[in-house]
Amino acid sequence: MARELAGLAADGDMALPLYGVRPGGVAALLAELPPEEAAMLRFQNFAGQAGVATLLPGPAGAPRAALLGLGGEPAVHGFGAAAGALPAGSVWRIAAGEYSPEDAALGFLLGAYRFEHLKTKTQKKLAQLEPSQVPERVRVVAQAVCTARDLINTPANLLGPAELARAVLEVGARFGARAAHVHGGEVAARYPALAAVGAGSERGPEVVVLAWQGSNTDAHAPLLSLCGKGVCFDTGGYDLKPGAAMLRMKKDMGGAAILLGLAQAVMALDLPLRLQLRIGCVENSISGHAMRPSDVLQTVAGLSVEVGNTDAEGRLVLCDLLAEAARESPDWLIDAATLTGAARVALGPDLPALFCNDDRLAETILAAGRLVHDPLWRLPLFDGYAAWLDSPVADLNTVSAKPMAGAIVAALFLRHFVPAGVAWAHVDVYGWNDSTRPGRPEGGEAQTLRALLSAVESLKA
Ligand code: BES
Ligand code: MN
Ligand code: ZN
Repeated sequence: MARELAGLAADGDMALPLYGVRPGGVAALLAELPPEEAAMLRFQNFAGQAGVATLLPGPAGAPRAALLGLGGEPAVHGFGAAAGALPAGSVWRIAAGEYSPEDAALGFLLGAYRFEHLKTKTQKKLAQLEPSQVPERVRVVAQAVCTARDLINTPANLLGPAELARAVLEVGARFGARAAHVHGGEVAARYPALAAVGAGSERGPEVVVLAWQGSNTDAHAPLLSLCGKGVCFDTGGYDLKPGAAMLRMKKDMGGAAILLGLAQAVMALDLPLRLQLRIGCVENSISGHAMRPSDVLQTVAGLSVEVGNTDAEGRLVLCDLLAEAARESPDWLIDAATLTGAARVALGPDLPALFCNDDRLAETILAAGRLVHDPLWRLPLFDGYAAWLDSPVADLNTVSAKPMAGAIVAALFLRHFVPAGVAWAHVDVYGWNDSTRPGRPEGGEAQTLRALLSAVESLKA
């Protein structure tokens, strides 16, 4: 399952320097260069625009360096244009400039990502980065993001619940994590609400629980617990989605993919903490076995819930995972999910919503997101809407009758399954780039992975 990073060259390749240039730095650059080179750049109208690359000629006519315009982009995005804009097969090292070399290298690697192995024709070769220049942490983060992107991009016929569970187990095995794999009849017994979501599919629900701890830790190390929504395809169930809305729903395991990538990075960096990862792998389909609107389900927490809409399936997957995770008294409990269209209406595709019952945890995550250019925006767990989830027949409904504040209502539903003493963050994420921008190729995106990793690295119990 794990692929090599497309942007990393083989060891020993000769690498030329690559300079990132901002529009404000062009004048100084032109003054510094030999007059004939400056004239050439002027002729090309090189102004440091994002994504525009140009070569500087060397003594024998071969290039000696390249310039890459960064525009106003942060390095982690701006350098993402390099792999596609520089000559195919050329090899580069990041030259010093007004950017962090780590951010630049990470941007280069993230921008070299392609999901093309299902095409039968050979694709364009990319420019690459000289590997000895790439710090270990940058490699780990790039691998984590690309793992998540690959999983999100893989179509649901090739990635069902069993394949997603397998991917989680593989990552766990690579780092010696303890693994529990719940499948078959056992799922309904242990995770009744999650099992109900998967009941309509031929490909039954599965849950994988990984447990790991850093090599220099003991039982007192802080416990980070992660719960991911892994809906491999979301048809909506009997409350069927219209075609246009269903089209992208292979990405409905985005939360699972992002948290698996995060867990992979935590383990690869050997962070000094204890880690638990719970991934609910299900397919929301239709059949004579599928759950119906108005069904009442049991949950791990013991609360009964009425299925107000079969398309509100993600919260049923998460509620059982969260309840089980909370029993272990984690220091930080984090879930991620492509949970609501309403979060996208509120904040758009590039700004995932954060809900959090602990201001310190929330601020840590928000600050980390700003720092690494992987932003989130906090929305409230507004108590005033809690009654919207009342049900006449069960402890609570999965949805509200009001077509408003859908992301908040979903988060309030989840809150019922997390005891008040547990610091909990819920991330409602889009997980997708609608179009290609530097460093962010169209398709699956590991939004919030880098923010959460930075936050976790800075957290002290
Ligand atoms: N997976 C969807 C949410 C989604 C849709 C995320 C589009 C990103 C893009 C989720 O399972 C869902 O269908 N939610 C419903 C909830 C509603 C029925 C209360 C929604 O948002 O419409
Ligand atoms: Mn749905
Ligand atoms: Zn869904």
